[in-house]
Amino acid sequence: MIMERSKLLTLLLLLGLIGVSFSIELKPEHGVHFPVYNHTLAKILVEYNAAVYESDLTELFTWTCSRCNGMTKGFEIIELIVDVQHCLQAYVGFAKDLNAIIVAFRGTQEHSIQNWVEDLYWKQLDLNYPDTPDAMVHHGFYNAYHNTTLRPGVLDAVKRAKKFFGEIDLIVIGHSMGGAMAAICALDLTVHHGIKNIQVTTFGQPRIGNAAFASYYSQFVPNTIRVTHEHDMVPHLPPYYRYFSQKTYHHFPREVWLYNIGYGSLIYPVEKICDCSGEDPSCSRSVMGNSVLDHLVYYGVNLQAESWNSCRIVSGPHLSRYTTADNTGNIILSKDPGSILHLVNAVSGDGASAS
Ligand SMILES: *[C@@H]1O[C@H](CO)[C@@H](O)[C@H](O)[C@H]1NC(C)=O
Ligand SMILES: *[C@@H]1O[C@H](CO)[C@@H](O)[C@H](O)[C@H]1NC(C)=O
Repeated sequence: MIMERSKLLTLLLLLGLIGVSFSIELKPEHGVHFPVYNHTLAKILVEYNAAVYESDLTELFTWTCSRCNGMTKGFEIIELIVDVQHCLQAYVGFAKDLNAIIVAFRGTQEHSIQNWVEDLYWKQLDLNYPDTPDAMVHHGFYNAYHNTTLRPGVLDAVKRAKKFFGEIDLIVIGHSMGGAMAAICALDLTVHHGIKNIQVTTFGQPRIGNAAFASYYSQFVPNTIRVTHEHDMVPHLPPYYRYFSQKTYHHFPREVWLYNIGYGSLIYPVEKICDCSGEDPSCSRSVMGNSVLDHLVYYGVNLQAESWNSCRIVSGPHLSRYTTADNTGNIILSKDPGSILHLVNAVSGDGASAS
């Protein structure tokens, strides 16, 4: 009994300490700008990220899919981009509640998740990032955005949305490999297209480039939250070697590590705001990255398609007037932002649904 009580005291003390460090870390450092982690917003964004895994394009485009509910209800897609050739998917749309344009990228669907994760161990830093000396990335991460249908599709939609909505927030999100694409996209939008104040939130994102790339990235897209979860393997990959920190992969900040502290049947979820180094040794790096399961669930939301190993695309006939396909079969579904208000009114007016 006494033992139990002392254990409980230790736990409370531990929680107290975490509480203290939590509130200290939330205070802005003098003269240093860094993004403030917003738990409510992160939980909304993870739902937006889950929806991009839907393979039924009709339900996704009309935002009627089973995941297009809850906190994302009422979202309007402006453009849905499906790179069939490379099995990639992204959307751009307008979130009225957040008064923001959201760009979301899906993670890889090409292999089984196990294979894909194992491949990550061997990714070499093999491409000089074009805009800055010494910065290196893996060509696969770079090309998935820069050398596919995603880039022209996203740029076109973001420009149309900006023109229509004016100076509203732009939030770029992605899970897993999609997180890498989200970061590379945000950098492109900032550096090449002069879009300011972009916010990025990624979930279970792998490392993308070396330390020079990480610091270049942070300079241009400081408003970035990189959420990691428990023992999720992917943020540990490709590996970081402490003793060769200039030569290996290096994360950019700011990590927020989600984990649980348990005492018997009591479990306390903790959200640790990590330091500005990108490689805070007291965050996810303090544990083994040995879980695929922790990679697929963030904030209790499932971030995967119904089936791996497929790039299945389901598309009904209703969408033909929104659809363009290129000669390799890639699909872009697009609507005029100006039609959104009209659509919203029509649907709520006579009860007819868009599909
Ligand atoms: C966090 O995000 C939510 C949802 O966007 C917003 O309503 C709330 O004001 C934000 N909180 C802070 C402290 O910025
Ligand atoms: C872009 O992709 C094409 C084919 O998908 C490939 O042949 C080409 O080498 C890639 N470009 C770069 C810069 O990697």
